[in-house]
Amino acid sequence: MKNIDSKGHVTGKSLYLDDIPIQQGTLHALAVDSPVAHGRVRSLDISEAAKSEGVVRVFTHEDIPGENQIGGIVPDEPLLAEDEVHFCGQPVALIVGESEHACRRAREKVKFEIDEKPPITDPREAKEKGELIIPPRTFQNGDTESVWDSCAYVFEGQADSNGQEHLYIETQGAYSWPAENGNIKIATSTQGPTAVQRTAAQVLGLGMHNVEVDVIRLGGGFGGKEDQATPWAVMVALAVYHLNKPVKMAMHRMDDMRMTGKRHPYSSDYKIGLDKNLNIIAYEATMHQNAGAAADLSPAVMERSLFHANNSYFIPNTKVTAYSCRTNLPPNTAFRGFGGPQGMFVIESAIAHAAREIGVPKHRIQEKNLLKDGDEFHYGQAVEQSQARSSWSDAVETFDLPKIQKEIEDFNEAHHWKKKGLALQPVCFGISFTKTQMNNARALVHIYHDGSVGVSTGAVEMGQGVNTKLLQVAAYTFGIAPERVRIDTTNTSRVANTSPTAASAGADLNGKALEMACLKLRERLAEVAADQLDASPDSITIKDETFYVDGSPSELSWEKMVHQAFMDRVSLSEKAHYATPVIHFDKEKEKGHPFAYHVYGTAILVVTLDCLRGTYQFDTVKIVHDCGKSISPMVDNGQIEGGLVQGIGWMTLEELDYDEQGRLRSNALSTYKIPDIYSVPETIEVKHLETEGHDLAIRKSKAVGEPPLMYGLGAYFAIQDAVLAFNPHATLKFDAPFTHEKVLMALYEGKEAGVKDAAELS
Ligand code: MTE
Ligand code: HPA
Ligand code: MOS
Repeated sequence: MKNIDSKGHVTGKSLYLDDIPIQQGTLHALAVDSPVAHGRVRSLDISEAAKSEGVVRVFTHEDIPGENQIGGIVPDEPLLAEDEVHFCGQPVALIVGESEHACRRAREKVKFEIDEKPPITDPREAKEKGELIIPPRTFQNGDTESVWDSCAYVFEGQADSNGQEHLYIETQGAYSWPAENGNIKIATSTQGPTAVQRTAAQVLGLGMHNVEVDVIRLGGGFGGKEDQATPWAVMVALAVYHLNKPVKMAMHRMDDMRMTGKRHPYSSDYKIGLDKNLNIIAYEATMHQNAGAAADLSPAVMERSLFHANNSYFIPNTKVTAYSCRTNLPPNTAFRGFGGPQGMFVIESAIAHAAREIGVPKHRIQEKNLLKDGDEFHYGQAVEQSQARSSWSDAVETFDLPKIQKEIEDFNEAHHWKKKGLALQPVCFGISFTKTQMNNARALVHIYHDGSVGVSTGAVEMGQGVNTKLLQVAAYTFGIAPERVRIDTTNTSRVANTSPTAASAGADLNGKALEMACLKLRERLAEVAADQLDASPDSITIKDETFYVDGSPSELSWEKMVHQAFMDRVSLSEKAHYATPVIHFDKEKEKGHPFAYHVYGTAILVVTLDCLRGTYQFDTVKIVHDCGKSISPMVDNGQIEGGLVQGIGWMTLEELDYDEQGRLRSNALSTYKIPDIYSVPETIEVKHLETEGHDLAIRKSKAVGEPPLMYGLGAYFAIQDAVLAFNPHATLKFDAPFTHEKVLMALYEGKEAGVKDAAELS
């Protein structure tokens, strides 16, 4: 099964927000944002901008009829700033005009008088000053305090990971127009149509029934449109509310980069203790999450960092604490992995530290401590169907790790100015929204009386292929050709109260609801067929568009049967609601069973360093990944490759740079480098682990969206391995991304020999 969007994408026929035909009289909107990171707004003069040619209106917070509040978890974020600004890029006004160009010209005429206050950009400083979004949380098992003394080795250090720009190809945007009786329609590029609907209603003082949100597809979201697609959609709706005309906003890349939040940077301290056989006995970590100026999804992201603090390892004594620190950066938000990668970077750093000091390869410690069935996660969930060890040994065997190691050794012996490095990267990622209540979805299915099928769910297509999987679920459950099925847009009038498409759970949650709805219809059709064929309903099955009785094909085709049911006045529409069973979590005890299941896998990464330039190239990444029983291997492989490369980018090239004034300096594609065709690994090999899948995964095909990103963590440690091959004196730092500049510094750090080598070269 090919991705159903592939043809549309390569021919340019797929529709995105900016392809929606413009209605006559459409106006354009542009946000005016704060030029400073922190201050009191003494005056905001919009009079010149309002008079500017082509401008229709300039809106401020005073024009908001309902609540000036868009915070989802904590109500701490205004749509348009009032008397204080908290980050550079914070929206303070909205210009609406006849063209985007007119709005841009007018934006230059807005005058601010802001009494500046010192901004905080560092999460540790924020913590010192008591600037916390929520109280800290601690997850623990065993008792770390009591075992440090019995450890043969104890190491402490710091591990920092920087943020990451989502860089969805389609920037944020929305198009809204008035409907009858004061109702408003919003087409937008969001992962969370219900969040847009709820927030628009709240800001406009309307009921949710007054707002209809429709999403065709996204040109990428990656978490950046889970919460942060909302303000732009609500802004255009605000303009529609007042002007009663269609209004559109499609953000320029630099506006988008400046005004929106990103992956959270983390600064963490760790302490790790091992026995002499390399068993990890104890692990402590304190994580400082740079939340930015408002909560957004930070509390939930922080929680997932705690859940994944031990990655794929069993550690009998763990104590991990996280602080969500309020700074004067744009509110940081969901990004593929949702805090998991940040938590895992710390344990991987601690293991790398221990390996260096003890003098063993990092992967010896990793392998020794992999989870197995019968273990318990530090949050209380039992480890079941663990593929940590099987994916590891499968990768080692399939890809012949000893041979790879020998090749690296030989290469490093033969080359002085080039060194290769190796890393193994296991991943264990929990599937479910960490907030139990969010794990629900609905589907609405119509069988049209010509036998074709229309499907609506709450899932949003953002390139991950969820629509392809949903289409397969409908086609398989009915036993009909995929061509008969159409997946409709995601629309709040057809499917209500949806969770965002996130947490990698889009296909599971919506797929399960869809399967339930299809099964109800199939049963109903079986009853009509039984009548027609004089058989009992349980003897009826459908395969290849034919009704079977006790396993033998009948005369009745799908098309005939559907038409008959229609003539018999049988309902051909159904809906269903699915809520993940089993899961629960007790936030008092910080224990429970939060995840439906876990996804596992292991990657082997090999990098070649140019030790003169500090540049590097990944030779290969070889992955054994647990997809369960994949229904869409091509889609899944696309997710695995894409996730991996995005993770490598985060760990290597992508360097977010805010200056001390809280201004984003890496604010364009010229200053923010993401992996391109030249910097991706020369080869990527993916093998699916043979497993049974899981009953809570859709048709046993396990969720795949986020976990592969974390294979990218190995990039950092592969580079570190190569640096050490060249310069055994380099001090180990854990400060991602490992950019070429940092590599160059590390290659020659404390290396008098380096000077000599350079002399030798000349
Ligand atoms: N793949 C593409 N092509 N584009 C995206 O925006 N988002 C990722 C992942 N894969 C994304 C993607 C993120 S952050 C998540 S949570 C999942 O897809 C969401 O989709 P799913 O739940 O259907 O896996
Ligand atoms: N993952 C992704 N998005 C979320 C989650 C989660 O666990 N919780 C709330 N939003
Ligand atoms: Mo994904 S970060 O859960 O949108």
